[in-house]
Amino acid sequence: MADAPASILFVGDVVGGLGRRTLLALLPGLRAAHDPTFVVVNGENAAGGLGITPKIADELFAAGVDVITLGNHTYHRREIFAYLDAHEHIVRPSNYLAAQPGHGHTIVERGGVRLGVVNLSGNVFLQAGRPAFTEADTVLGKLEGRCDHILVDMHAEATSEKVGLGWYLDGQVTAVVGTHTHVPTNDARVLPQGTAYITDVGMTGPRGGVIGVKKEQAIQTMRTHMRVPFETSEEDPWLMGVLITCAARRNQATAIEPLLVPWDGLDAAPSAGASARAAAPSS
Ligand SMILES: [Fe+2]
Ligand SMILES: [Fe+2]
Repeated sequence: MADAPASILFVGDVVGGLGRRTLLALLPGLRAAHDPTFVVVNGENAAGGLGITPKIADELFAAGVDVITLGNHTYHRREIFAYLDAHEHIVRPSNYLAAQPGHGHTIVERGGVRLGVVNLSGNVFLQAGRPAFTEADTVLGKLEGRCDHILVDMHAEATSEKVGLGWYLDGQVTAVVGTHTHVPTNDARVLPQGTAYITDVGMTGPRGGVIGVKKEQAIQTMRTHMRVPFETSEEDPWLMGVLITCAARRNQATAIEPLLVPWDGLDAAPSAGASARAAAPSS
């Protein structure tokens, strides 16, 4: 039913326990305000800043998330490998090697509207088995005639790759949303052929850190060039997402609206041991 009214709330990379608490606290209000048909969340940093666990994925689905997308931190937690194969509505980049656990696209139906969700990884500064652009061709072929709208999460470092994919898919999909940099860009718009586009949605979690990491630790390693154990920041939580309004025509959008929402819930107890260890802040 491509002509049924539909909208998609897409939420950028959820970082650590604070990101999860921010999402869970703000989601009911966003539902009340915007009544999204679908909620899609990038969860690649949901477990202590790196990766995701089955328990956390279950928690997100129980909160009403329809689809979880991932990215370069997909395989940080071994316990998620089997879950990725077993669960239809969690997707890792489609252009990873076929031998790697999981799958790269899914279809979810709500109120008679079918949404295809595709996860892609950029090829600049990120490891992916196949090129994102030709993978997009392949996946769109597989989804042909099977869904009313398609959302592509392009998880990429380089803005140029994301802008290029937006133009490449303009008119073929409902939305191309960029993730991974954790910093929202100010370029949300509907492209001329009807595809909603943004280069990066941003992240959901501590805006008071360095892309999720405690700022003092990130600055120390940048200043000294020495390895510093990283923990996820607990400062200044925000939810960053976009609301996409689907058009009555298949694979078209009429609007994309950034949602940058602070959460004042720091009175809630921070989760213990929420730490991410890496050599540099990593999105
Ligand atoms: Fe990432
Ligand atoms: Fe990320």
